[in-house]
Amino acid sequence: MAPVSAEPLPVVLEKVSKAFRVDGRVVMALRDVSLEARREEFVTLIGPSGCGKSTLLNLICGLLKPDAGEIFLYGDPKAQRLGRVGYMPQRDLLLPWRSVMDNILLGPEVSGRDLTAARKEARQLLPLFGLDGFENHYPATLSGGMRQRAALMRTFLCKQEIVLLDEPFGALDALTRRIMRRWLLDVWAQFRQTLIFVTHDVDEAIFLSDRVYVMSPRPGTILREVTIPLPRPRSERMVSQADFAALRQDLLQALGVIP
Ligand SMILES: Nc1ncnc2c1ncn2[C@@H]1O[C@H](COP(=O)(O)OP(=O)(O)O)[C@@H](O)[C@H]1O
Ligand SMILES: [Mg+2]
Repeated sequence: MAPVSAEPLPVVLEKVSKAFRVDGRVVMALRDVSLEARREEFVTLIGPSGCGKSTLLNLICGLLKPDAGEIFLYGDPKAQRLGRVGYMPQRDLLLPWRSVMDNILLGPEVSGRDLTAARKEARQLLPLFGLDGFENHYPATLSGGMRQRAALMRTFLCKQEIVLLDEPFGALDALTRRIMRRWLLDVWAQFRQTLIFVTHDVDEAIFLSDRVYVMSPRPGTILREVTIPLPRPRSERMVSQADFAALRQDLLQALGVIP
């Protein structure tokens, strides 16, 4: 039998740098960032505010071009990235004049898919996203958690194999965050995408991820890559166990929060 050739990784960044010009000054946002996301992996980028996490996602999805370095999608450095990556930006960006259902259907609508089929599928998925009975509501009448679930549902329904989530729980209270992270893992288990997740919350990173990249303050560089060997399914009970605490210590040290 012929040897099976290794499948190219969904996302690879090689020595990617990016600077912005602000009022004639050059602001170096990212320097020599190399990272990868494997198939169906949950990868998290963690780092202080302003270290270039959102910029990294904008580069991966194709909204920005790197100044130096290369970005490969499935091994192809010339791949058209726009439209191939699901992306939930840092603010939920629901359209206030559209109902929950019409917000959710934005992806299929913009990409010209059959809306009747998409609506049927969305209806079936409403319970998973905790939005059953709220499909005709407008974003302003929803709780913060529901808005985030609607925005996440819209992102997942774009059906891309690679999904980028930029601090999706950043604006939520601590208790809602805990409920949402457990729920996100259930959703991910169902959709099975390659997920690149951004947070500045150490516990969230450990709880969710297969691997975590720790970033330095601006200009953002990768300081450490930490594998999270905790078994799945993950449960809240793990957070108070010794192996979780050791990983927390490891990440906090890498971030320079504790010596
Ligand atoms: N479009 C832009 N124009 C100018 N500067 C920007 C732009 N986007 C980001 N920056 C700057 O790049 C740095 C990284 O920003 P960002 O990627 O938003 O960080 P993070 O998401 O980690 O908080 C910051 O100093 C920010 O001000
Ligand atoms: Mg950001």
